[in-house]
Amino acid sequence: MPEMHRLTDMQTPSQAIALCNSQDLVNSGEAVPFDVIYCGQTCMAFAIRYQGVAYAYLNRCSHVPMEMDYQPNRFFDLTGHWLICATHGAMYSPQTGQCRGGPCRGGLVKIALTEHDGVVHWHTDPYLKPVEFSQ
Ligand code: FES
Repeated sequence: MPEMHRLTDMQTPSQAIALCNSQDLVNSGEAVPFDVIYCGQTCMAFAIRYQGVAYAYLNRCSHVPMEMDYQPNRFFDLTGHWLICATHGAMYSPQTGQCRGGPCRGGLVKIALTEHDGVVHWHTDPYLKPVEFSQ
């Protein structure tokens, strides 16, 4: 008889949560913000589109853990090829979140996205949960 495994937090299946319509994310354009619980803390996150692909990250610079947008939902620099932190100018790859210049220490925390039938979903993981709203 196969051994039964208990589901722990680490084994909880990932959940796909609808985030926005595909058309809301324009190449190198404004981000769509959303809230998540990351390691037990409520954090802002954002989704962007770059060269046709949607990506999402925690809105938290790796230099100092603060939000990065220089105007609400604006993360791309003037070239449209880098995500830039408004505070000290750290630059990150929109595809990987890895640091490409400035004072960053490592990369952004990436959030898995999928896109189908015109809808973008983000995916939970053991450290990343949806914010529960009470009624
Ligand atoms: S807080 Fe982002 S570069 Fe310093």
